[in-house]
Amino acid sequence: MSKGPTSLRLDRLLSNLGYGSRREVQDLIEAGYVLLNGEAIIDSDEKIAITPDLAARMTVEGEPLDPPPGLVLMLNKPVGVTCSHKEQGPLVYGLLPERWRARNPAISTVGRLDKETSGLLLLTDDGALLHRIISPKANIAKRYDVTLDRPLRGDEGAVFGAGTLMLDDEDKPLLPAQFEAVSEKRAFVTITEGRYHQVRRMFAAVGNHVVALKRDRVGALALPGDLAAGEYRILGEDELAKVFS
Ligand code: URA
Repeated sequence: MSKGPTSLRLDRLLSNLGYGSRREVQDLIEAGYVLLNGEAIIDSDEKIAITPDLAARMTVEGEPLDPPPGLVLMLNKPVGVTCSHKEQGPLVYGLLPERWRARNPAISTVGRLDKETSGLLLLTDDGALLHRIISPKANIAKRYDVTLDRPLRGDEGAVFGAGTLMLDDEDKPLLPAQFEAVSEKRAFVTITEGRYHQVRRMFAAVGNHVVALKRDRVGALALPGDLAAGEYRILGEDELAKVFS
């Protein structure tokens, strides 16, 4: 859990978590369907401390409360889903539980991956955290596992690392990127910027074509091997710290 509000009225908390309108959640509360530490809370205006263990202590209609505000998720984004309404196709938000899509503040992706890119995508409802991660000042390294159409030329490391590579239609060179060849047609590339289709365009600039692109690290946080494509999980404090290290 990241920093969210420290306490909220119960009806506000539930309605912000997508359980219904203020009126609807007040009805749930008054009917005794909301328990804290096993006991019904009947007062909608009771102040609830937002603590990391709240979901373990509160139930709504017999089910554990959804994760409280300050939520950070990692998703293994599959190919074919989009991060933005501007692109055609199903959205990554469709991979989350339906009620989570009605939360306020909304859960947003931390930056974007292209529709055809897979791998580690962070999502959060904490706007300040989101900006801290995507801010150019944060200089957070993102590593991509790149599969190419043609064999590597051999000079990619020098070209990408120079800090002089200019992409088409841009007026500022890319910052130096790290490059590591894995095989004839596969490499890891680590970038700290997030320009439009950056990795694909970097390889186009050296006469190649990316056939598969997967992000496997953000900062020192690696995509876990046991998180299947389309699956997500809540990030713990220690994992979140890795993003910044
Ligand atoms: N670079 C790309 O080309 N696409 C992405 O989704 C991310 C980095």
